[in-house]
Amino acid sequence: MNEIERVKDLMTEAGSVDPTVGSGTLSPHLPPVDAAALAAVIRGLSRDSKLVVVSNREPVIHEARDDGVREIRPASGMITGIEPIVRAVSGTWVAHGSGSADRRAVDTNDRFTVSGGRSSYALRRVWLTRQEEQGYYYGVANSALWPLCHIVYARPQFSRRQWETYRRVNEKFCAAVLEEIGSEDAIVFIQDYHLALLPRLLRQARPDLTIVMFWHIPWPNPEAFRIMPWGEELLDGLLGSDLLGFHIQYHCNNFVDTVDHRVEARIDREQFSVFRGGTPTYVRPFPISVDFEQVSDDAVSVPVRHRVEEILAAIEHDGRQQLLVGVDRLDYTKGIIERLRAVDRLLLEYPELRGRVTLLQLAAPSRTHVEAYRRLGQEMDALVDDINWRHQDDTWQLIRLLRGHHDYTTVMAAYQVARVLLVTSLHDGMNLVAKEFVAARRDEDGVLLLSKYTGAARELADAVQVNPFDIDAMTQALYGALTMEAAERRERMVRMRELVRTHNVYEWGIKIFTELQAIQPLVRAARRGGGA
Ligand code: F6P
Repeated sequence: MNEIERVKDLMTEAGSVDPTVGSGTLSPHLPPVDAAALAAVIRGLSRDSKLVVVSNREPVIHEARDDGVREIRPASGMITGIEPIVRAVSGTWVAHGSGSADRRAVDTNDRFTVSGGRSSYALRRVWLTRQEEQGYYYGVANSALWPLCHIVYARPQFSRRQWETYRRVNEKFCAAVLEEIGSEDAIVFIQDYHLALLPRLLRQARPDLTIVMFWHIPWPNPEAFRIMPWGEELLDGLLGSDLLGFHIQYHCNNFVDTVDHRVEARIDREQFSVFRGGTPTYVRPFPISVDFEQVSDDAVSVPVRHRVEEILAAIEHDGRQQLLVGVDRLDYTKGIIERLRAVDRLLLEYPELRGRVTLLQLAAPSRTHVEAYRRLGQEMDALVDDINWRHQDDTWQLIRLLRGHHDYTTVMAAYQVARVLLVTSLHDGMNLVAKEFVAARRDEDGVLLLSKYTGAARELADAVQVNPFDIDAMTQALYGALTMEAAERRERMVRMRELVRTHNVYEWGIKIFTELQAIQPLVRAARRGGGA
């Protein structure tokens, strides 16, 4: 039995989870798959193929500071999920070089070796002009596609000039990927909505490539998508891939329905595939996860324990308060305003909690050149001031806001001090903060308050699930979470830990690459036959 068969066997034996139907029923005694198993699957797929991951955001940013160059790990669920995979096979990662000192860190081929983990990999940086960044990243990606796909009442902004820039930047990424591959075989693994045109561009240049695209954010229904002026071109771009992944089946359904409404294609609903121009794209749900063992170990490290002390001192924690914790990018989809309102209402309805509860909110600045993000920052500051002013006394403040790029150690420490972790997204593809929190709570304590509108809610049935638009209900859920008995907290956390332990990020990768192996003969046959 080869490694792939062994892994498949293990997964069948485990009754591997159907991501569309909630939590799985795995036996707690099965060993979870790991980096080595994933590497074996990828190597088995094609021994000589390189793995090239492509995304807009780079996993390491070099920033110039007064005291030298600092390496920053950006706040990104996508990076949390993808990095263990590229490390597992020592692949190449192509991404936008966005840091002020990025050019200083690379070699003559614009490459930088990312070490520091279990194994290293190459980061190839793509340089964008300020105008390109404006049109492609702030413009099409984050002012048009982001609100279009999340549907949270932020109106998408469309501009033809920005769309042209978006197309040009996708072409730039295409050139960099082709350069990295040379004449070799490769599996190209593309991430997210910044690079929707890349699969088709690569397919046209190299019909033999194996192309996987993963869309980390929701996909809207056809009615919402129909306002997208360049919808056909975007869909055609995505349909250049062999395999297209979303976190949940619902988003796969929305995508296939959108194709059905918008472009000439043959849809096979049994196989869940789309034929355009004779070649198929298979559409599948793969719920992403985290490196459970790594996070679980890191969470109890000495630096994290020290950081816990520092955080408690910084917020003048006197031991009387239970901590509610939020860890987010400052983004209007995360439901931060709704969360603040619920915490405010909690104190109004339960005044006995005065001095006994504090919300520690870590907020990483994000996309600050987009007006909606700047407005959110201002709204949040004003609301925090107002709420604190109404509730505080000489020795206690209800909300402690730590704005800034918090490093991994700080995030781990924040998870440790949380009695309740709040994930209140209005809409979210997955939300890896929720899974990371669970992996980090080795003490099997802490409650996860989780929005129903995250992909994670489909799996984490033991979280206290809320509708973040319903502030009253969220307030009551918060009170219930705060007053939950220790035994129940533990039972829920133990079950959630088992689920994330088994369905870790390596299993996610293995599912993608074993699926790729399963569809390969069908894709080849369709190419040979010149269509279906
Ligand atoms: O997961 C969605 C996503 O947009 C990623 O592509 C991205 O890295 C992350 O959120 C953070 O956003 P940004 O890269 O714009 O800071």
